[in-house]
Amino acid sequence: MSGERFKYNFYYDRAEVNKCLLCEDPVCSRACPSDCDPGGIIRSMFFRNYLGAAERTGDCCRGCDAPCERACLLSGRGRSVAIRGLLTGVREGAESLPVQKIDSVDVSSDICGVRLENPFLLSSSVVSGSYEKCRRAFEAGWAGASFKTVCNFPQHEASPRFSSVRHHSNSFFGFKNIEQLSDHSVEENLKVFERLRKEFPEKVIVASIMGRDEREWTHLAAMCEAAGASVIECNFSCPNMEDGNLGATIGQSEELVERFTAAVRRGTSLPVLAKLTPNITDMAPVALAAKRGGANGISAINTINSITGVDVDTLVAEPPVHGRSIAGGYSGAAVKPIALRFISDLSRSDGLRGMHLSGMGGVENWFDAVEFILLGAASIQVTTAVMQFGYRIIDDLKDGLERYMKCKGIASLKDMVGAAAGSVVDSSGIERDTVTLPVIDNSRCCGCGRCYISCRDGGHRAIEFDPETRKVRIVGKNCVGCHLCIAVCPVKAIKPANGSFMRSAVKTES
Ligand SMILES: Cc1cc2nc3c(=O)[nH]c(=O)nc-3n(C[C@H](O)[C@H](O)[C@H](O)COP(=O)(O)O)c2cc1C
Repeated sequence: MSGERFKYNFYYDRAEVNKCLLCEDPVCSRACPSDCDPGGIIRSMFFRNYLGAAERTGDCCRGCDAPCERACLLSGRGRSVAIRGLLTGVREGAESLPVQKIDSVDVSSDICGVRLENPFLLSSSVVSGSYEKCRRAFEAGWAGASFKTVCNFPQHEASPRFSSVRHHSNSFFGFKNIEQLSDHSVEENLKVFERLRKEFPEKVIVASIMGRDEREWTHLAAMCEAAGASVIECNFSCPNMEDGNLGATIGQSEELVERFTAAVRRGTSLPVLAKLTPNITDMAPVALAAKRGGANGISAINTINSITGVDVDTLVAEPPVHGRSIAGGYSGAAVKPIALRFISDLSRSDGLRGMHLSGMGGVENWFDAVEFILLGAASIQVTTAVMQFGYRIIDDLKDGLERYMKCKGIASLKDMVGAAAGSVVDSSGIERDTVTLPVIDNSRCCGCGRCYISCRDGGHRAIEFDPETRKVRIVGKNCVGCHLCIAVCPVKAIKPANGSFMRSAVKTES
């Protein structure tokens, strides 16, 4: 795979994009006299598909007095999104965006031989819990769906069942649910599989199942295969089902995982994925147990046990269910780093080579998906972003992925899978003898002094700040090259220098 940088030298007002309500049937697009769909363009920007956004701006906004901004639902509150500025900016910034090296790419993938027209599936949850939902998702362009976990025992749900941790923008960053499995009977769900199979022969139906004993696991797998499922996914990981040998209790036991996977294997000849829990230190031994039981792949991650917050007035944790709460599964953008770590661990494990990895946990846009793919996931599943933004996110997932591949000159998605996996090594495996100093771009620095504050109090006192001129300066002899200053700079005015020094040449004060 080409090592050339895919870098956006593209600056835009993210806070303005984040203001957009991403509304249904955007009023700004309705008001646009030139049919340029500003709502759709800003949505592409929201999901980091700048190339797609830039291509669609065309002549938009030239000589227009912005009826879109007057129509914006926020205009009544005096905070209308600066649509014209954003669209003009993305059009002008387009010149600095990467150019395409190839014209067509193949984004198809497969789960152990079962073809996926693109790598994107709904993950098992409320977003994939009915015929109507899957139909709408398939029509929108999703390649498949892992259906809401089918089981043979009644569910007893609580209300409310969600809570969230919010960004400064109007969307949430982390999401907690205390939901259980499908509340439809096995028979009802099997009928849905039959209908979806008939109406969407090219889509991949993953039957997520959970049994209470080996007989049930075998039986469910056999019934789902007979009803037209393409793949079986064993839910060994729901954190809200831990009573008895259910859910994440299974995924924390190599013995149970091997035994129940073998039971599923007896019931089906379809590819079998074991969906594992992140509520464990090391997933690889459990994944190996699934392989011994006959699994062909691993899905990861399910949600992380969490408490998202406490209401400091009522003194009840969230979500409050008549004065009480329970720990529940955390998902969404906040969990992506944890999910990526597990995918990386699995793809680096020698014993798991050749197994399919289906990655999920915090995927919201094509960029997130590419990260999972580069670490070894050949399919990508999504729930929380769909709950928050709808099935329509598939447009920018697919378009952004295709544009990335065209710019990088990657003809086939399969060539990307695992391309960055080798970059993750054990802690003794990285070079620790040199220091890369930061450099400040004074033309971009706004003089806020955030780098100075952080370096003084959380770094190595390697930045000086002149309160008169509001200029900052790196003191090379103190700098350890930790790059905290780069991380905190709000205007991206600091970057790593080209080249490094030997550590022995830099004297430091800690
Ligand atoms: C409301 C909700 C319900 C879920 N139900 C299931 C389920 O029935 N079976 C399952 O395997 N995973 C279930 N999950 C976990 C998701 O499939 C997925 O593994 C997890 O949310 C991480 O992906 P995300 O960050 O894209 O949401 C559920 C997640 C949520 C948020």
